Amino acid sequence: MSTVFITGAGSGIGREFVQQYLADGWTVVCTARQDAHLAELGDAGAECFNVDMQDAPGILKTAALLLDRTLDLAILNAGIMRGRDMGFADIHVRDWQESFFVNCIAPALWAGQLVTPLKRRFNGKLVALSSGRASIGNNVTGSTIMYRASKAALNATWKTLSIDEPDVISFVLHPGRVRTAMGSPESELSKEESVGQMRRVIHDADKNTTGRFLDYSGKSLPW
Ligand SMILES: NC(=O)c1ccc[n+]([C@@H]2O[C@H](COP(=O)([O-])OP(=O)(O)OC[C@H]3O[C@@H](n4cnc5c(N)ncnc54)[C@H](OP(=O)(O)O)[C@@H]3O)[C@@H](O)[C@H]2O)c1
Repeated sequence: MSTVFITGAGSGIGREFVQQYLADGWTVVCTARQDAHLAELGDAGAECFNVDMQDAPGILKTAALLLDRTLDLAILNAGIMRGRDMGFADIHVRDWQESFFVNCIAPALWAGQLVTPLKRRFNGKLVALSSGRASIGNNVTGSTIMYRASKAALNATWKTLSIDEPDVISFVLHPGRVRTAMGSPESELSKEESVGQMRRVIHDADKNTTGRFLDYSGKSLPW
C-alpha cells in the first residue's frame, strides 16, 4: 500500500488531496491545525497531526515521528496569501515574516526531515504547492508582493533540493486558479478538477520531472 504525507489538509486543496488518495486506497498521513478538521480527517480514515506551519519546533517534533516510516509521496500544500491588496507602502514586517515562514521556511523544514522516509522508496516524490504568481518571468501585473516573493523563494528552495537530494523526485506545482478560500469564486477550476489533474502529473513524474516548475496540466512554467 502507498503512503502520502500532506500538510494543510484541513481545508481547500489539501483536504481534496486527502479525499482522493483515501478513495484510491492510499494510507494518508497529514497535518491540520483546527480541532474540527482534525476530527473530520480522523473520521475519514487519515492519520492526522496538529501542526501550525509557523511553529518550527512543532514541525520538527512531528517530522521526527515519521522518520522511521516509509513514504511514497509528500505534498507540502499549506500556504497563505497575506496582504492581497497591500501596496509597498502598507506592508509590515510581521506579514513578510509570516508569508515567508508558512510558504517557504516550513516546507524547507519538512523537506529536510522527509527525505529520509522518502528515500526508502525508489522514486519517492517531494512536491510543493507553488503558484503561477511565483513566476518572475510571467509577472506583468504586479501586486500580492509577499505571496509572490515567498513562493518564488519556495521555488528556489525546491530547485536546490532537487540538486542536493538527487535520490528523491522534487518539483513544484501550480494548482491553477482554484475555487477555495484563497482562490476566488470566479476561479476556473474546482478543487476536484485541480487535484485530479495534479495527481496525474505526480503519478507520471520521474527523474526527468525533478527540479521543474509545472502547472496542474503538466505544462512547464517560467521561473
Ligand atoms: N486556490 C488557488 O487558486 C491557488 C493558486 C495557486 C496556488 N495555490 C496554493 O495551493 C495551496 C493550497 O491553497 P488553497 O487554495 O487550498 O488555500 P486555502 O483554502 O486557503 O487553504 C490553505 C491551507 O493551508 C493551511 N494553513 C495556512 N496557514 C497555516 C499555518 N500557519 N499552519 C498550518 N496550516 C496552515 C490552511 O489551514 P486552515 O484550514 O486551518 O486555515 C489550509 O489547510 C497553497 O500553498 C496555495 O498558495 C492556490
